[in-house]
Amino acid sequence: MPEETVIAVEGLHKSIRNGSRTVSILKGIDFSVPRGQFVAIMGSSGSGKSTLLGLLAGLDTPTSGNVHLNGTAISYLPEDRLAKVRGRTVGFVFQSYQLVPTLTALENVLLPYELNADDASFAVGLERAKQLLENVGLGDRMDHYPIQLSGGEQQRVALARAFILQPPIVLADEPTGNLDTANGSHVLELLLDLNRKEGTTLVLVTHDPVLAGYADRRIVLRDGLVVSDERSERAAELVR
Ligand SMILES: Nc1ncnc2c1ncn2[C@@H]1O[C@H](COP(=O)(O)OP(=O)(O)O)[C@@H](O)[C@H]1O
Ligand SMILES: [Mg+2]
Repeated sequence: MPEETVIAVEGLHKSIRNGSRTVSILKGIDFSVPRGQFVAIMGSSGSGKSTLLGLLAGLDTPTSGNVHLNGTAISYLPEDRLAKVRGRTVGFVFQSYQLVPTLTALENVLLPYELNADDASFAVGLERAKQLLENVGLGDRMDHYPIQLSGGEQQRVALARAFILQPPIVLADEPTGNLDTANGSHVLELLLDLNRKEGTTLVLVTHDPVLAGYADRRIVLRDGLVVSDERSERAAELVR
């Protein structure tokens, strides 16, 4: 049986007008990702990684080309339909966490559930949010506001939030970038665990070659183009 493709990227270009100049950020990207694969996106700063990830999530519109998530072409959908597909399909972990400052950790994790779950039952969502916060080691911090949490703790809240709707795809932009080694390997462990247990497809932007070593596949961008795309056995054990 052929592998099921969950992400397909076709001829993706992104340009931005900067005054009278047009800056070309992505110059034709094509790849597809089968279900359950863990892909690391690498490349130096400015190579287009965050732009690509934003397009994969439907947070941004390409200049040309398209992104298909589970067979649906998302890039030019009207915002209401896009929001529905995104809510059901993608969990996103931003480099800068993007927690809502006026909500507690628990309320932040619950928010996408309240906005998107088809079967939104507050009790079910609440149980799941609590369990996820337990899983990321924040069982005793649920009522804290973001400002009362360290960077590592905020990142773990963002991670729990990305998983609240049990998305088939999780996209993460340097999720360990601002963390120390211990917190970084904890976050990686959580991602790998969800990838294994729930078959979640992971696309992770990272600078860290050690972290990328745990991926099934490494796609390297340079100046808006894929310059290398290689698969390998993932490192068997997480070394701390
Ligand atoms: N809104 C924007 N306006 C102008 N240039 C941008 C904008 N967003 C990104 N860029 C430029 O596009 C390039 C790629 O950015 P980005 O995708 O953030 O790279 P990376 O995540 O790999 O560091 C950079 O040169 C950046 O300065
Ligand atoms: Mg970036």
